[in-house]
Amino acid sequence: MSAQINLYEHLADELGALIANRIFAPGDRLPSIRHLAQQKRISISTVMQALRLLEDRGLIDAKPQAGFYVRHRARTLAGIGSAQCPREPTYVGINNLLMRVLQANDSPGAVQLGSAWPPDEILPVKRIQRVVSAITRRNPELLTRVSCVDMNEPNFVRQVTRRAIDWGRLDPHEIVATSSCTEAISLCLRAVAKAGDTIAIESPTYFVLLQLIESLGMKALEIPTDPKTGLSVDALELAIQQGLVQACLLIPNSNNPLGSIMPEANKKRLAALLSQHDIPLIEDDIYGDLCFTSERPWPVKAYDTTGNVLLCSSFSKAVTPAARVGYAVAGKYAEQVAFLKTVSSGTTGHFFQAVLAEFIDGSSYDNQIRKMRRVLAQRIAQMSDAVSKSFPAECSISEPQGGFVLWIQLPEQVDALALHGQAIEQGIAFMPGPMFSASGKFGNYMRLNCGNAWSPDIEKAIQKLGALVHRFSDRPAREAILN
Ligand SMILES: Cc1ncc(COP(=O)(O)O)c(C=O)c1O
Repeated sequence: MSAQINLYEHLADELGALIANRIFAPGDRLPSIRHLAQQKRISISTVMQALRLLEDRGLIDAKPQAGFYVRHRARTLAGIGSAQCPREPTYVGINNLLMRVLQANDSPGAVQLGSAWPPDEILPVKRIQRVVSAITRRNPELLTRVSCVDMNEPNFVRQVTRRAIDWGRLDPHEIVATSSCTEAISLCLRAVAKAGDTIAIESPTYFVLLQLIESLGMKALEIPTDPKTGLSVDALELAIQQGLVQACLLIPNSNNPLGSIMPEANKKRLAALLSQHDIPLIEDDIYGDLCFTSERPWPVKAYDTTGNVLLCSSFSKAVTPAARVGYAVAGKYAEQVAFLKTVSSGTTGHFFQAVLAEFIDGSSYDNQIRKMRRVLAQRIAQMSDAVSKSFPAECSISEPQGGFVLWIQLPEQVDALALHGQAIEQGIAFMPGPMFSASGKFGNYMRLNCGNAWSPDIEKAIQKLGALVHRFSDRPAREAILN
């Protein structure tokens, strides 16, 4: 038996090495099973076992009636391994560079692989139009109503509370309607921390979270984050033990840009750890409803027993970003968050709160998120396939479990910012890796938006980007930086 195991493993290793050295390149057909069996003087079943092992390793695909082909797939991102101690907290100074990148991305006619806005064609515009006219007719007072006391539209609170029933019981008094998820996070940060405090974040994380921390004069502590399982709770615990952390700001369900989801056991442990140390968690759950898992993953808030978690979200990704309606479920900080909301921007328009509430009530929202999950998973797979074909083999690609972005590790010598400059000249916008770090990490990473429908323009853009990455990879690092 063990000789048999050695035989098939040996053949798998041998074929794997030929694939790694591109003797068999992506798309090539491997020799037939019969041929391999004859050539190696082993049984057909041993060859089959070897090929199955190569399939499991993600190196080849079986094509019915046609044989085995080398997969067009780049490597997936490596995990982070065991707990590493986070580096020092740092003040964030990303805004100026980020604004320059965003402005460059906005160039007219550029193929938009940068900002992660959902494309109009996937949003329920007709249904929103119907809800808007129905409410305008039925409740014209909402077009003029504003209040400094009743900031929340009752039906909006009802719907947010109802949607949480699957994972827990929300206290409606904890809810503050906000004008976007960004505003909810900003208010929560101001409620739980002050200038000079250190906020633990995932590494990498969404650049607007870094901008918020920067704008409030706080420091960021980047906690190692696994491309599949998210934040390392071990690493965070080490930082907490060293007294480094005053609050956490995390995206546990489909982190932007990784698409990672924290396993439920990690979320439970995180909630307990933070509660034990009385460290508040601001949880950005904007992608919770857009995860591709069979069940909607729970937020960390589901495991919060002490009001320590401030859950933030909005309907910008799944319904429309134009309504600017979101919310915070702010636990024991609710009163403070409501106060800050009042003095920052007053009420979030009751009219659009009512529109969103009516949209969520009934089946429209569930149908919409079901459709989006299916379509977005497909678009991510298409983009991932195209990147695998066009980019150098040393690149590694994330396997997002939700949302609509891909995170790509380029060869070490590629300077993603320099690459970005040249891509913009060729009419292609993307987000360079350093925008996702407070300390300039991820210099050789990029994020691609996969939300748009696949088109010849996008296909061409990926081929051009791939050619650029090849060029940058073939040059020494210094030359790449200077050009
Ligand atoms: C993780 C995350 N949070 C928040 C937002 C912004 O949401 P909103 O438009 O509601 O402020 C985004 C948008 O890209 C995001 O990716």
